[in-house]
Amino acid sequence: MTTTFTDETRERAREIIARYPADRSRSALLPLLHLVQAEEGYVSPAGVTFCAEVLGLNKAQVGAVATFYTMYKRKPTGDFLVSVCTNTMCNVLGGQEVYDTLVEHLGVGHDETTADGTITLEHAECLAACDYGPVMTVNYDFFDRVDPSTAVGVVDELRGGGRPMPTRGARLCTLKEMAVQLAGFADERDGAVADGGPGEPTLRGLRLAQEHNVSVPGFDPNTPIRSKAEADKAAAEAKAKAEAAKPAPVEASAAPVKGGDGASAPTPGNAGAGEPAPAAASGSTAPDVKAPDDKSPQVRTAETRQPDAGTAVPDAPGTKVPTDSTAPEPRDARSAEAAGVAANEPAGDGKPAGDEAGAQERNLTEAKAGTDADGAGPADASETGAQK
Ligand code: FES
Repeated sequence: MTTTFTDETRERAREIIARYPADRSRSALLPLLHLVQAEEGYVSPAGVTFCAEVLGLNKAQVGAVATFYTMYKRKPTGDFLVSVCTNTMCNVLGGQEVYDTLVEHLGVGHDETTADGTITLEHAECLAACDYGPVMTVNYDFFDRVDPSTAVGVVDELRGGGRPMPTRGARLCTLKEMAVQLAGFADERDGAVADGGPGEPTLRGLRLAQEHNVSVPGFDPNTPIRSKAEADKAAAEAKAKAEAAKPAPVEASAAPVKGGDGASAPTPGNAGAGEPAPAAASGSTAPDVKAPDDKSPQVRTAETRQPDAGTAVPDAPGTKVPTDSTAPEPRDARSAEAAGVAANEPAGDGKPAGDEAGAQERNLTEAKAGTDADGAGPADASETGAQK
């Protein structure tokens, strides 16, 4: 299948893959699934193919992951995913009533989308905010202690084009925009990261610990979260400070001298123990001072982890991803699947390698033979704890 993903998505795919060790590129699958969801609103068959192509997996492997996690949607979603917790704590506090009210009000059930494409409703298991129950989230941002009336108010405002402010966390974005963040890219909206601080129940344990003098010394829970621009600026200042603190390189007055036997003068790489490294010769082509590093933190991290990534193949298992500006071309589905199968050879019965048919029977036979050889005779059920 020919994929239709944009150059921007392909570029981001390369960034994601470069975050992982070269021989562990398949670990990039989870963020890549968020990435394709960011473009299409769900993990479509084309999205599965795209992930398989760029990681050298087969589509069955990608599909197995995409169908396991509830955050990957298998059909088109609305702009806003409204998740209502109906798990134990929220349920006893009224979560089921909230969910049932929204079902009736919106005219959709679990995992269904309103006709105007605005809201997808789902009931969710514990959303990890039991101390604020009953809770619901909109695109994973929290609305705490909701009741049927406030929940209806939120969805009505969303359908009317408004953006109600969550109780905690950043201001709302669309589900596709959130999927970009879930793929590991920063929320670039000015000040959004610092929009909403933690709630009092979240901080209660911290305050208790401080009262009893068991908190981390000097930690201020009111420390504001920096925006990306502020963090980048602080990193640049720290780097400039570190560069300024470095000793100036020593200039040599002559070119490196060869030894009498024609051997090269020692270099930092082959200097003997205790020998000082030679000073750089004037006129050397090697730069004494590194050019300013104005790369983005993501590119820098990728290069640190994979210093030779620029020469490698982007999308085969165990290979490296180039960090140049060339967008990766997906391999055709057949060659990608072939590479995936070669790296993950299935047994004849379709099970993963190592789980081949007959293995259990053979193991039991070998175990029995070993037991008999010891002269202990076959173990009975009472010895093994097995149930007959
Ligand atoms: S039970 Fe609802 S957030 Fe935990």
